[in-house]
Amino acid sequence: MGAASAHPLAGTGGGALPVRPRRLRSTAALRRLVTDVRLHPSDLVLPLFVREGTTEPQPIRSMPGVVQHTRTSLLAAAREAVAAGVGGLMLFGVPERRDALGSGADDPDGVLNVALADLRDALGDDTVLMADLCLDEFTDHGHCGVLDPAGRVDNDATLERYASMALAQAAAGAHLLGPSGMMDGQIGHLRAVLDAAGRADVGLLAYAVKYASAFYGPFREAVDSQLSGDRRTYQQDPAANVAEALREVRLDLAEGADLVMVKPGLPYLDVVRAVADVADVPVAAYQVSGEYAMVEFAAAAGAVDRERAALESLLALRRAGAQVVLTYWALEAAQRWLG
Ligand code: PBG
Repeated sequence: MGAASAHPLAGTGGGALPVRPRRLRSTAALRRLVTDVRLHPSDLVLPLFVREGTTEPQPIRSMPGVVQHTRTSLLAAAREAVAAGVGGLMLFGVPERRDALGSGADDPDGVLNVALADLRDALGDDTVLMADLCLDEFTDHGHCGVLDPAGRVDNDATLERYASMALAQAAAGAHLLGPSGMMDGQIGHLRAVLDAAGRADVGLLAYAVKYASAFYGPFREAVDSQLSGDRRTYQQDPAANVAEALREVRLDLAEGADLVMVKPGLPYLDVVRAVADVADVPVAAYQVSGEYAMVEFAAAAGAVDRERAALESLLALRRAGAQVVLTYWALEAAQRWLG
């Protein structure tokens, strides 16, 4: 029987403190009743890497537990995630060969497009299949776009490459395309190209707000990035005002974005909240590789409880206003942590 004497507020004196916030925290049942922010597997999107020309999944040293998949292991991982109720899959390709234009990106036989087709064949509409739409994995210089003769990322020439990539990804079966290169006008251009090609059915998950972040460090290993230098001429400055982020969101909404995303997540909770306050489409947040690695390595060193720290950071993103969260923990959270 509920022992009244065990209640944390039992025996505390009367009138002096009529308002006691602890009352609502005093049993697990009370805390459950007044819970506002919840995590559900269907809010979570699992990013997956698929590598060309490998027969075994390759571990990624800086992302414990994450691998570069083979075509076969990718399919198994995707099926497992869908069975666990994960809301969607975001696919990244790691090609064997790279060139200045990122030719593998819009090649129907390129690693990403082949993998998309495999997954769409196997899973149909049972999940939301998303594709990273960017050139950095496919270029030999590692930038997210093509370069002009002076070596600068050429915005409008890049849009043409993105358009071709979008059509290839749509043909391969992606439901949502995720342009992540931060080129000006990318959403409007892709929307127009898709619509003109009769692919009004394919949606755009806009990486609307994307910072030039140190937290992408492990991802660079995950995709064997060739980048030397940085992406500061196209990704946003972490020291810039939130107004810049809201401007990017306004533009993407006007250009036809179906969802808007903020990236990274935890260091930008203020931005997530500001975007959620103005966006009239669902807001996503990307908990990036470095955020994942921080908790994984801290937990491995015994500094934090892995599951609790991971869930707390996911909860923070939901609380800040993200409806959808991309996270490398999506499968484990869906299978084991959220019940
Ligand atoms: C670009 C892209 C990046 C990430 C997602 N899409 C790397 C970058 O912009 O430098 C980072 C994701 C992560 O760190 O988990 N294709």
